[in-house]
Amino acid sequence: MCGIVGILGQNSAAPRLVESLRRLEYRGYDSAGIATLEHDGIVRVRAPGKLASLETALEPVRLTGTSGIGHTRWATHGAPNETNAHPHVAPGVAIVHNGIIENFRELKAELTGLGCEFESQTDTEIVAHLISEGLKDGRGPRHAVHAALKRLEGAFALAIMIEGYPDLLIGARKGSPLAVGHGENENYLGSDAIALAVMTNKVTYLEEGDWVVLSRQSVEIYDADGDPVDRTMQHTNASALLVDKGNHRHFMAKEIAEQPEVIGHTLAEYIDLAEGKVDLPDFPFGFENLERITITACGTAYYAGLAAKYWFERVARIPADVDIASEFRYREAPMVPGGLSIFVSQSGETADTLAALRYCQANHQNTLGIVNVRESTIARECEAIMPTFAGPEIGVASTKAFTCQLAVLACLAIGIARAKGTLSSTEETELVDALIGVPRHVAEILKEERHIEEIARTVAGSRDVLYLGRGISFPLALEGALKLKEISYIHAEGYAAGELKHGPIALIDESVPVIVIAPHDDLFDKTMSNMQEVAARGGKIILITDKQTAEKNGSTEFAQISVPVTNPFVNPMIYAVPVQLLAYHAAVFMGTDVDQPRNLAKSVTVE
Ligand code: G6P
Repeated sequence: MCGIVGILGQNSAAPRLVESLRRLEYRGYDSAGIATLEHDGIVRVRAPGKLASLETALEPVRLTGTSGIGHTRWATHGAPNETNAHPHVAPGVAIVHNGIIENFRELKAELTGLGCEFESQTDTEIVAHLISEGLKDGRGPRHAVHAALKRLEGAFALAIMIEGYPDLLIGARKGSPLAVGHGENENYLGSDAIALAVMTNKVTYLEEGDWVVLSRQSVEIYDADGDPVDRTMQHTNASALLVDKGNHRHFMAKEIAEQPEVIGHTLAEYIDLAEGKVDLPDFPFGFENLERITITACGTAYYAGLAAKYWFERVARIPADVDIASEFRYREAPMVPGGLSIFVSQSGETADTLAALRYCQANHQNTLGIVNVRESTIARECEAIMPTFAGPEIGVASTKAFTCQLAVLACLAIGIARAKGTLSSTEETELVDALIGVPRHVAEILKEERHIEEIARTVAGSRDVLYLGRGISFPLALEGALKLKEISYIHAEGYAAGELKHGPIALIDESVPVIVIAPHDDLFDKTMSNMQEVAARGGKIILITDKQTAEKNGSTEFAQISVPVTNPFVNPMIYAVPVQLLAYHAAVFMGTDVDQPRNLAKSVTVE
């Protein structure tokens, strides 16, 4: 899950390579590097750490080459140091790679036998050598590349530059995404349209097994067998992809603040506002006879799925299984044909979620993707999609994509309930009215940010933090703990409040903040009892509840964050916001890199 870019241009490629890499840093930021084709051959500059280190390394180097490749890395094989940073080279060849070459050990042994010398611990370097050996044997570049591709097992997106061929770049994709950008007498390669947006909004997505030969004037795409194929060129909304932080200190802060707007956009896509009814797209399958739903996702998207389980079961009366994609894909779950399988993914590229989708297709499920990136692989491979309209999400910790996923899933649950006849028209209108109110309520919560920031100060510096929730607030407890640990590095656990006494209560003492998510729903009293159990053991309680309950509690010995009173149906979208703000401000107090926390990446395209 690294980011790659390639440019065949008219002017010096280096500055634009760096600019594209800046937009790809969300895919990894352990190291970065570029290589350009100069008069005397391939010149590469690499640096461990974030892109800023590469920029410093580039300062004394004068690069004028108009063709080049670049890479930002999330380390899989080999430590994130300069030697393992891409581009990797072999005589006459430089390449950048996203993915994992699974048979690299066998290939390395074979190439070592032929006298190749390796400098890195990466799987990638063998690809450069395979191509280089092909060239040495007298093959032309495209034949050398095609022959090498045939030997590779695993997942890859590659951009390949060959010495002596200043008007040539070759790209290949299997398992990892790769797009071709079309310019004026220029052509490009990139992991996604965001990377290419600095240069063009005309993009062609390669399909599984495709490889492409670029010159400045031409784009020739071939399938895995080497036969020429046509792939459609699309116009992306490039200006919308050129994102910045606005007046915010971090992308995460900006993305939290955007939620009223983007949840509103998303709801407007799936609700007939005039009628006060859900209005779903036409699907190639119906819901009337639907008997089981499976939801598969990773990370935050998985928690959105977990919340939706409560909606599907309670409102639509359909059993719903929710699975972590990396578990589901290997479990060989039996599936009754005709079930609905839902895949929730911001990026639409998460490798495990994609593998789960393919498993479900092979098991005759109807497949529906809830994705934020409409051009993504999951979006393209699902039978139907319900996009979220969150806009580009850059902060590694997902915020606005999560609440937009919830908005879509809520509309879907209502739509399925209507099809199944489990919801009266009046009930539907009530739920839809509650949904329409969400952007307004989220905006009200955002006004409380200073108060939440003060409370976050008491969380920052803790060794452990517990999050508790019951019912549909349980997934939020999990999401709250994930948010906090990923950006502040404070250890946090989310628990179903009722499980507290089965273990985690042993952790509680005066130093452990316990964040209790307790909307005034039908489980409120039960959650309150669990909160008392914490209080009795000296735990430092932070209660997130609604305004009415908070007022009734008056001034208490514990901290309170209050949110507007809403229909409990929409609580996940409401309570997500204070949970995000708490994590964000705790991380800012801790001084971590909020948008690019250590060891993480936004888009996980490897297993
Ligand atoms: C990574 C990101 C998370 C995200 C998860 C799933 O771990 O850091 O924010 O929730 O991947 O990504 P997806 O793109 O499939 O939603």
